[in-house]
Amino acid sequence: MLILGIDSSCDDTSAAVVADGRHALSNVVHSQVRLHRPHGGVVPELASREHLKNIGPVVREALKNAGAGLKDIEGVAVTVGPGLIGSLLVGLYYAKSLAYCREIPLLGVNHLEGHILSIFLEERLPEFPFVALTVSGGHTSIYMVEDYGRYRRMAHTVDDAAGEAFDKAAKVMGLGYPGGAVIERLAEEGSSDSVKFPRPMLSGGSIDFSFSGLKTALILYLKKWSVSGCDSREVRLSDIAASFQEAVIEVLANKLVSAVRMTKVRSVVLAGGVACNKRLRGRVEDAISGEGAGLFYPRASFCTDNGAMIAVAGYHRLLKGQKADLGIDVKSRFPIDELEGSLT
Ligand code: KG4
Ligand code: ZN
Repeated sequence: MLILGIDSSCDDTSAAVVADGRHALSNVVHSQVRLHRPHGGVVPELASREHLKNIGPVVREALKNAGAGLKDIEGVAVTVGPGLIGSLLVGLYYAKSLAYCREIPLLGVNHLEGHILSIFLEERLPEFPFVALTVSGGHTSIYMVEDYGRYRRMAHTVDDAAGEAFDKAAKVMGLGYPGGAVIERLAEEGSSDSVKFPRPMLSGGSIDFSFSGLKTALILYLKKWSVSGCDSREVRLSDIAASFQEAVIEVLANKLVSAVRMTKVRSVVLAGGVACNKRLRGRVEDAISGEGAGLFYPRASFCTDNGAMIAVAGYHRLLKGQKADLGIDVKSRFPIDELEGSLT
């Protein structure tokens, strides 16, 4: 069964055709990074206008790359939230028109559910129940995943998301936007124990996250660092990048270990843009193997925002008969606990 998946929740316009909730026959992403880079972050108004321009061509290309026509599609899955309202509306109304004209089911999807289920696009699969860390520019949460559609949030960030921390760190270090991949590259040349950055919320019982204190510590450090003469600097920018990255990763890995101990699951899934980070994958794998759990993560193009993961989630909604009404609206905030009954 072929499902067309559409995501326009933030700054990427994406569409994909997925067979049987498992096999991505195509996955087209139109990135808006170049448009937003001069502003140092996503400008919502510009994002929605750009989605409007690109949604048609992106969907057409997804169908063409899959060797499929609209007549072959048995459902249109689309992100209804969380995300930027103007951006979400473009994808949702495009999907509504397709569903209406073709008389096929419209499937409303929670973007975070998409990230969690992106792992099902890969060969090697986790076993239910598993623990998932969704870690992106907008979210840092740990979920207990009992089954398709059954998620319980175990932890979340009380302030910044981990990707946001990477992006803000790159900005104050003058490395541009978005920052995660640039910091990872620079960190490879540096030493992670050069600067002792704090490990926020590592002590105490909570497995929630907080990254804004770490960001402040970095800003204060950079102020001191930049006044010491260039030539006499013993600590290089790459050392700072490596130390900052290590602080974020150590917190993420430690909290995941706690989650595995609490739930006794045997599989852990990483999802979202920050899950592209190889150091994070390595550290988490080492940390959870001591608890008898294995690590699963999708390829990079399924970690960052993509239509394929939305098609996977939509496929499972369709199997459960949870078709959305054409009157369904977007939601800027959309906790995954509110999933049941809210997508029809
Ligand atoms: O999932 P995503 O594409 O969009 C959101 O839903 O936010 O994630 C984008 C985030 C950005 O904050 C970016 O800096 C971060 O993922 N990111 C990384 C890496 N690649 C992307 N963070 C750390 N290391 C990376 N290699
Ligand atoms: Zn995302």
